[in-house]
This record gives sequence, C-alpha cells and structure tokens, in this order.
Amino acid sequence: MGTIVLGTGSCLPERILTNVELESIVDTSDEWIQSRTGIAARRIGGKGEKTYQLAAKAAQRALDAAGVLAEELDLVLVATITSHMLMPSSACFVQNEIGAKNAFAYDINAACSGWLYGFDLADKYIQADHSKKILVIGVETLSSRLNWEDRNTCILFGDGAGAVVVGHSESERGFVGSNFGSDGSLWELLCMHAPQSLNPELEVVGNPGSHVLMGGREVFKHAVRAMEGSVRGLLDSEGIDLDAVDLVIPHQANTRILNKLAERLKIPQEKLFINVSKYGNTSAASIPIALDEANNKGLIKAGDTVLFCTFGGGFTWGAALVKW
Ligand code: ACO
Repeated sequence: MGTIVLGTGSCLPERILTNVELESIVDTSDEWIQSRTGIAARRIGGKGEKTYQLAAKAAQRALDAAGVLAEELDLVLVATITSHMLMPSSACFVQNEIGAKNAFAYDINAACSGWLYGFDLADKYIQADHSKKILVIGVETLSSRLNWEDRNTCILFGDGAGAVVVGHSESERGFVGSNFGSDGSLWELLCMHAPQSLNPELEVVGNPGSHVLMGGREVFKHAVRAMEGSVRGLLDSEGIDLDAVDLVIPHQANTRILNKLAERLKIPQEKLFINVSKYGNTSAASIPIALDEANNKGLIKAGDTVLFCTFGGGFTWGAALVKW
C-alpha cells in the first residue's frame, strides 16, 4: 500500500546540438567530450520550447499515460532552476497551460536533485491523504544559462522535461523510502548567480553573471561520495540488499561519474540505466526523462524495485526506492 507512479511522460526540444557542432563554438573535440563525459549530443530549446512549454508537454503525456485528467490533479510540482520568469513559477504556467484548474502549484529549487525531492514530497502529501493526485515535473532549459565561451561547462548540459503522475495504490507496490542531504557550505563549487539587485543598498559582491559556474573536479568527487553515502544509508535503513534492486536510474550527470558510482557500489552495468549520451546533463529533468525512457522500453515491470539517486548544486543529493 503506497504511492505509485500512474504514468510517465517526457518532452525533448527538437534541436540537436552535437559535439562536432560544439567544436565550432569552443575549443573542444568530440573525442575529448565523449571520453570525459560520455555525452555525444544534447537538445537545445527553441521557439515554443520555453521551460513551462516543455514541462506542459511532458505533463500532458504523463497524464495521458496515467489516464488521469488535468482537472483531477490536486498539486503541480515543478523542479527547475531555469524558469523563464522568477514570478510566477513555472508550475503556475504549467497549471494554466494544461488546465489543472483544481490544483495548487509551486516550484522546487534543488538543482539536479529537485525532481527526486519533489517525488519524495508528493509521497508525503499522498500518505497524508490517499485521494490526492500529484504531477511531479523536472524541467530545464540550461542552454539559456550557460556561458557558451566556457568549454568547462557548456559541453555538459542540455534542455528537456520529464514528468510523472503519482497517486495511491492499495497494492503492495509503492514508494519505499528516501535518504537526502545538503551542504550549503560548498555552494561556490556549483552555482548560478541571481540577476543583479535593483536595490542600491544591497551589496552584490562580484556577481559574474547568471550562468553556471563549476569546479568540475571537486564536483566529481563530491557527487560520487554523496550518492554512494545516500544509497548505502537508504538500503541499510530499509534492510534491502543491492542485489534485490532491479534497476538503478541515477541523475544523468555524466558516464564517468556513474561508472565510478557503479564500481563503488558494485552495481552491474545491466542494472544501471544511462541515456546521458543523447541528452547531456538536463539537471532536474534528467531522472524523469530517463524514467520515462526506461518505462517505455519495458525495462520496469510491476513489482520491480527501482533505485533513484542524485546530486546537484547546493550541494544537494539523495536516493529513493520504489516498488514499481
Ligand atoms: N574540451 C577540451 N578540453 C577541455 C575541455 C573541453 N570541453 N574542458 C576542459 N578541458 C581541458 C582543461 O582546460 C584541462 O587542460 P589543461 O590540462 O591544459 O589545463 C584539461 O582539459 C583537463 O581538465 P580537467 O578539468 O582536469 O578535466 P577532467 O578530467 O576533470 O574532466 C569534467 C572535466 C568532465 C568537467 C569532470 O571534472 C567532471 O565530470 N566533473 C563533474 C562535473 C559535472 O558533472 N557537473 C554537472 C553538475 S553536477 C551533477 O550533475 C552531478
């Protein structure tokens, strides 16, 4: 008896930006990017593909898959750090776009971990009231927040949206548990400044522009350690052995991070779902996009134990388990 996923959906922008094309934008090479990150291409949002528009399309696909009408939704949660406006939230734009007129709506900012935090939050709402139906979306248009002259960052990220509709089931299936953590002291290793303050009294120290800044090597080490810790903590507290996990759907940061994590946790390659080569790192959207793809490929059967794990700016990180 628990919170189950009723349907999944995703939406990727049409425009594909390959590594070879990137060679004409910054001093890089397809070989360097593929060998360091496993990324071959990413999608870039264009006209009609604003953050909320991608999110709304993914949401409608998840609703159709679930057989749930937009009017039946009680809550719309959108995890994003690339809303096209600071106010209203992307969630309110999505609520309007899909016609979820009985839902309240708000955004979650936990960078790459946002969707998993939202999924956990939806479980808590549904535990409190079994009648609730909730849309949890992860969406980013990071292409609008990249310094396209910085080869350290612009090669890594991409745009896209993924969504799930969650509700309650009386069966044995459902959300099992989660393990989350954050560390604000390391914020400078991965950050994006807000727009300059208009209040002359407020000190804005050295704001270098609102694009992604990153200390790649440090982020790599922290990401592997933090995800490993959360996965181990979660499995211990639930009394579940990693062998009992059928599929691991991690945040799609890059192949080297994921392979290192798999090596430390002894996750066999066939249980690790990776699609980062096609889409790059889509931050909050990466897990729900991967989940939708795995689901559509028939890689998840009813009753399977699915493990999610994530790491992102903040730092924020965590893991969650679901009996599908
Ligand atoms: N093309 C060619 N050369 C490059 C590029 C590029 N795009 N970027 C950096 N280089 C060069 C550097 O300038 C450096 O040259 P130098 O030796 O002459 O100084 C050399 O390549 C090595 O640079 P490093 O930064 O040491 O390369 P590293 O092996 O650490 O790989 C990478 C960099 C891929 C960013 C790696 O550190 C990484 O994966 N970090 C994690 C970052 C990440 O995934 N962030 C996403 C957000 S957090 C998350 O989602 C988990």
